[in-house]
Amino acid sequence: MTKRKILITSALPYANGPTHLGHLLEYIQTDVWSRFQKMRGHEAYYVCADDAHGTPIMLNAQKQGITPEEMVKNVSIERQRDFADFNIVFDNYHSTHSEENKALSELIYTRLNDKGHIKKRTISQLFDPEKNIFLPDRFVTGTCPTCDAEDQNGDSCDACGATYSPTELKNPKSAMSGATPVLKDSEHFFFDLPAFEGMLKEWLHSGSLQAEMANKLEEWFAEGLQQWDISRDAPYFGFEIPGAPGKYFYVWLDAPIGYMASFKNLCDKSGIDFDSFWGKDSDAELYHFIGKDIIYFHSLFWPAMLEGAEFRKPTNVFAHGFVTVNGAKMSKSKGTFIKARTYLEHLDPEYLRYYYAAKLNSGITDLDLNLEDFAQRVNSDLVGKVVNIASRCAGFITKKFAGKLSDSVMDEALLAEFTAVSETIATHYENREYSRAIREIMTLADKANQFIDAEAPWVLIKDEATQERAHQVCSLGLNMFKVILTYLKPVLPGMSANVEQFLATELKWDSVSEPLKGHQINKFKALMQRVDLDKVNAMVEASKESLEAAKPAIDPNSPLAKEPIADEIEFNDFAKVDLRVAKIAKAEHVEGAEKLLKLTLDLGGETRQVFAGIKSAYAPEDIEGKLTVMVANLKPRKMRFGLSEGMVLAAGPGGKEIYILNPDEGSEPGMRVM
Ligand code: MSP
Ligand code: ZN
Repeated sequence: MTKRKILITSALPYANGPTHLGHLLEYIQTDVWSRFQKMRGHEAYYVCADDAHGTPIMLNAQKQGITPEEMVKNVSIERQRDFADFNIVFDNYHSTHSEENKALSELIYTRLNDKGHIKKRTISQLFDPEKNIFLPDRFVTGTCPTCDAEDQNGDSCDACGATYSPTELKNPKSAMSGATPVLKDSEHFFFDLPAFEGMLKEWLHSGSLQAEMANKLEEWFAEGLQQWDISRDAPYFGFEIPGAPGKYFYVWLDAPIGYMASFKNLCDKSGIDFDSFWGKDSDAELYHFIGKDIIYFHSLFWPAMLEGAEFRKPTNVFAHGFVTVNGAKMSKSKGTFIKARTYLEHLDPEYLRYYYAAKLNSGITDLDLNLEDFAQRVNSDLVGKVVNIASRCAGFITKKFAGKLSDSVMDEALLAEFTAVSETIATHYENREYSRAIREIMTLADKANQFIDAEAPWVLIKDEATQERAHQVCSLGLNMFKVILTYLKPVLPGMSANVEQFLATELKWDSVSEPLKGHQINKFKALMQRVDLDKVNAMVEASKESLEAAKPAIDPNSPLAKEPIADEIEFNDFAKVDLRVAKIAKAEHVEGAEKLLKLTLDLGGETRQVFAGIKSAYAPEDIEGKLTVMVANLKPRKMRFGLSEGMVLAAGPGGKEIYILNPDEGSEPGMRVM
């Protein structure tokens, strides 16, 4: 087998929030592939970095009262701890806010500019006049131009699904300050993507892109490629564009260059030849693992930038779907938005690695983490099948045969069935069909258990005459176990390390067909606990709590517990309600009405007739002459007993417990209440 040179990346996570189980699908998928390639003896490197730039990160740091540099550093420490604790191992983890990335971004930009691939033109954009900053789409809200739904995002309407430009919104507001944005001109720099259409089409057809990705690209070509706006005006957290003071690279320009920068940083530390991986004539392979949401950046902009700047292009881009939990989008209120750290506080990381691997394939469909299925699958496959092989064989070898395996394999043909599929399984890993690999491996585990069941070493061991057979059976059982764990090693590095200690051997792909004979093993220790559903539930509870933690506990008998506070509204929504102090000039019973009193309310000039449902709590004479507060601009409503022209404000659940509001002394009828 020829030794391949392979550079592998995962998308660079934004340094703007905690790692969650959605992210982990990607980093686990990539880590499995990287471990697999290394096990196969290839020269493979897996690099990643924090994606440190952009407006959200700048604003988030501002909110915390620290510099973006400080915030990025804090997030990076936590992020790398999360990854390490999930056994995700990078050859290098860097940051896009680094010297290497600055130098490479400037180099790539300069080369593109020199070749005429950067166009400049002035555009008009929404600008926050209070914060003095251009507003990214997601920081503008307003009324949908299509359906008039209020409070919609800058680029799309949740109510009717329309998409538009933020300048089309009615009543636009800055989400940063609430100010009304103004249009302001500014010169922007554009990358001339359409110039690369021919090359991109060729790349699409020559490569082995995923079918779904190829389809998307075809659609995008059909829609027509657009020039890409790569500059942002100060204030911005990023790199200033050479020769353009006050203009910064848009975060997505320098983000993928971060792949190169992280690798460059590794090369400088270790002596690997950078150019042999990134140069135009590189014979190395380059793969990017990404989520389906960022295909455009990786399959259009990125290859075009590389081509234009005279670097090699990716060999392939591998997109995956999104994680859902229990069949739905991860949700903070349901407790299914689970952070990496919260998971680790409750469960073994290898469970998740296994579950994801058992469900992953090379497509882009979403992957559902069904928590019950998760527990059941891990328990039945890993604990019930795989670990069971070792736990049934190890004790006898240790106790009866001084920890030494038999000198020969009792059924070479049977063991050969295990090693014969090694290339099939390798192909599945190579093709990112992990679920198929796992299925093959579990078939072997079933076979091993059937063999042990049929031989029943626990019976053989009791009789002097069959003890040697028990030795043979358990030794073969452990050799089967060794093969199975070798295949599982990319997925379960933690368990494999313990098995290597137990079997006193390194699990290597190329020695999979060399059985251990006459070999001394170590004492068997429990390899994996069953998944405890209580812990899964506790993890979900804790994920709910982390959202509620900021709020004090509510007394279950309080009015708040019975009727929680309604959704937040804008000040303008409130200001539409015209509340006035009113004098109850007259209060009367109404013929035939069980609950209503008829009130004549004096607003200091005008009067209003209001039917109020307060009869169960007040007699007319109790309230006549009192001041209260009314909604004065409520649309009049025709009732059975006459027209009701507003409503009085009262608190309480009803019945005897109704309390009308009394304004403090000094207020006069007609005064506005704000
Ligand atoms: N910073 C960009 C990537 C720049 S790459 C040059 C970014 N960061 S991210 O933090 O939002 O996402 C990192 C990766 O995690 C992306 O590939 C994204 O698709 C993936 N996922 C984020 N949430 C996910 C799920 N719920 N499920 C699966 N993957 C998800 O995008
Ligand atoms: Zn709409």
